[in-house]
Formats: sequence, structure tokens, C-alpha cells
Amino acid sequence: MRIVILPDYDRMSHWAAEYITRRIQQFPTSADRLFTLGLPTGGTPLKTYEYLAQFYRDGRVSFRGVSTFNMDEYVGLPEQHPQSYHTFMNEKLFSHVDINSDNVHIPDGNAENLQRECAAYERVIVERGGIRLFVGGLGHDGHVAFNEPGSSLQSRTRVKTLTMETRRANARFFDNDAKSVPKQAITVGLATLMDADEVLLLVSGDAKARALRKIVEDGINHMWTGSILQMHRRAVIVCDEAATAALSTSTVKYFKDIEDSLSEAGADPYSSAYEDFA
Ligand code: PGA
Repeated sequence: MRIVILPDYDRMSHWAAEYITRRIQQFPTSADRLFTLGLPTGGTPLKTYEYLAQFYRDGRVSFRGVSTFNMDEYVGLPEQHPQSYHTFMNEKLFSHVDINSDNVHIPDGNAENLQRECAAYERVIVERGGIRLFVGGLGHDGHVAFNEPGSSLQSRTRVKTLTMETRRANARFFDNDAKSVPKQAITVGLATLMDADEVLLLVSGDAKARALRKIVEDGINHMWTGSILQMHRRAVIVCDEAATAALSTSTVKYFKDIEDSLSEAGADPYSSAYEDFA
């Protein structure tokens, strides 16, 4: 696991957007081989999406060769609802870049047969060659996507019932009424995430400090599902200083030292070879 600690949310978001951009640029796309990118919703990736849109406007990145897979979607919320993840992705990213809408994948939370929808979602990921880079956020309770505490560490895309903590956290998008937050969501599983070639987790703010400590310093545990990333071959956590508040001083120093010594050696912090040394 690599942990990149940046001074603030803005620098963290810029770093993440640069990382994603470089991966897209480096990928040799062809008509039947697109760069498959897993994406989150939520407050944390907002600025990263703003930077990606800016990089697109600056001519630095194109999404023509990109196929996206969102992590999750609420069950039973109309696609056009202002708080659906379909709406979120269109507003925050897709409408600002040149992605082909045929290459956008978001689970259908209104499918007649939700189990079949989940199985189909997994199948399409495999058909597209698997996810190259899965970008994610971290919940206050350590969840990644909607893999709530107690989720199977081997889980695949499925319907998950949301904890009250998650519904309360998301109530800010539903007029501060936790009861209006849908009770269930379709979410990719932890095994779906682990199958990706690389995972990039964005963590910002002191409200996430405890969760970050749990997934980094404690053992792998289904109650803090993000801890499964300790088993991933290429997992990068990019966070701001505030999010590291509960990490031990030695943990922070350890990860900072690695980044410092690689940068002193002139390594490119965004290259995939970099992780081989980190
Ligand atoms: P947030 O959500 O980015 O809105 O904090 C993260 C999550 O719950 O996964």
C-alpha cells in the first residue's frame, strides 16, 4: 500500500486528477480496448472531477477511449432524481468531458430483477477486460462503495441494505432527512474492487481520520471493509493532512519518508513503476 499525504483537499484532488489523467494517457486504447475506470460519487471526489474537466478543456486528457463503471446506485430512486448517482455523474463529470455515453456504466437501481442486474454488471466488467483503475472514497465507518460493515470480503456486485450511519451521512443531500435516503443500493463488491489492476482511494478531512486509521493500522476486518486494500497489489491512498489526524506519528513518518526519498531520487510520482518501489 502506498499512502500519499498532501497538505489540503485541493492539492489532494489535483494529485488524484493528475494520476487518473496519466493512466488514461498511457493506456494504448483501440476500438475494442478501452481504458476501464471505476468511479465513486460523494463529496470527496468533487474537486477531482473539477480538475479532470479542466484537464479535458486544456486538451490534456480525452475520455473517448475510456469506459467507466460506477461503484454504486440507490435502489428505487428514479434515474432523473437530483440525488441519483446517474444525475451526480452527469452533472459533475460526464457532461463536462468527451465520454461516449455508450461507454458509461452505472448500476440500474430500478431494474425489474435486481439480482440479474448485479450479475450482468459483473459480466460487463469482465467483458471489458476488467477494471484498470478503480477510484473510491472512504465512509466514516470505513466502507468502500456501499460495502457496509460486515460485508463479505469476497463480495461481488449485489444489493446492500444501508446502515443508519450511512443514511445519516448522506442525509445532507436529502434535505437533512435520513429517512428520505433510500434504504438499499446496488454496489460493487469488495472482490470486484480487488480484481482491479489498481485502486486509488481518496480520503479527506478529519471526519475520516478514524476510518483511515482503522483501515491502515489495524488488521483486515470485515467491520472496516476498506482494510481489504491491505491485500491489494497496487493500492494507493491519497489523502490530506487532516485525514491523517488519528494515524500514529510513526505511520505518517514512514509513508512520508518513502515518498520523500523517491522524489529525491527523481522518480515520477504518477508512474505505475513508482509503486514497484514504494
Ligand atoms: P463522501 O462519501 O465522499 O461523501 O464523504 C464517501 C463514502 O461514503 O464512501
